Amino acid sequence: MRTLKFKDGGRMPIIGLGTWKSEPGKVKEAVKDAIEIGYRHIDCAAIYGNETEIGEALTECMEAGTVTREELWITSKLWNDSHRQEDVKSALEKSLSDLNLDYLDLYLIHWPVALEHGTAIPKKTEDFIPLEEVPIIETWRGMEELKAEGLVRHIGVSNFSENKLVNLLAVASEMPEVNQVELHPYLQQQELVNFCQGENIIVTAYSPLGSQDRPDDMKKNDEPVPMENTTIAEIADKYGCTEAQVLIAWALARNTAVIPKSTNAARIRENYEARNIELDNEDMLKIRKLNKGYRFVDASFFEMDGNSYTPEQIWDEDIYDVKEAAE
Ligand code: A2P
Repeated sequence: MRTLKFKDGGRMPIIGLGTWKSEPGKVKEAVKDAIEIGYRHIDCAAIYGNETEIGEALTECMEAGTVTREELWITSKLWNDSHRQEDVKSALEKSLSDLNLDYLDLYLIHWPVALEHGTAIPKKTEDFIPLEEVPIIETWRGMEELKAEGLVRHIGVSNFSENKLVNLLAVASEMPEVNQVELHPYLQQQELVNFCQGENIIVTAYSPLGSQDRPDDMKKNDEPVPMENTTIAEIADKYGCTEAQVLIAWALARNTAVIPKSTNAARIRENYEARNIELDNEDMLKIRKLNKGYRFVDASFFEMDGNSYTPEQIWDEDIYDVKEAAE
């Protein structure tokens, strides 16, 4: 399996198993299946509510001798309710305890959004803390401490715009090593990918297949479906593979890590097999034209009366302008 290399020599397998929306009851088998198939990278987060089951799967695989801890790459993410510096370590400790691990390979700030401690999903304006009150750098200091203590090998962020990264890079002691963002042919974010890769920040693509299993309240009518795109289908025909595999191969061709989610053993295997598909320049040019600037995870769920967390503020762009520009 190809890996992406960190400055200290750490290597992250380029394909990982996504676990957002993987239900407790299904995720344990999915992780075990994935490890049997050959996956070594599992992408987790406290807010997904399934780290305990994932921990059981990891422990069983290690006890069975299928894999060692050193061979695995486990990522988790700090939820928004633990952005105060003093809360960062206890949030990590909860994930470590649930995952039954004594260190993480990678820990990410999940969103540039701060919530009151104890808030999982915000429901009212008072659930939010303005970033002026708990700035990202305060949270980042907490992340740096975890790395210094050896509890996490690498630290990074998720859902960060170039602007937010520039601000963080200016004051950070430890550089963010990863930015995990939504990427697929309908949301290519080429400028952000170029910026990160130019700064030695590894990019991980989430929702690479378009996350059609999102909860209904996160979906819009008439959403485009990348797996049903005719150009993607033509390229799939050319290689005798599936549309999902083309989408994964596209992420690999951009040197981004990619974390397709599945709880189905056959699809988990299919997604892993995409590592053998190499798209050529002609394919990449065709796919480049598909960009719509379309976000499936548009962050509008953080926008509430009177708070500062609008999609425009989070992404540092007017998403509607981007969509129009692409049309
Ligand atoms: P399932 O878990 O039943 O396999 P994303 O990674 O963009 O969040 O997309 C996840 C969605 O894509 C889930 O609905 C998942 O369903 C589905 N999926 C995962 N792999 C494949 C595949 N190879 N072919 C078709 N659908 C897939």
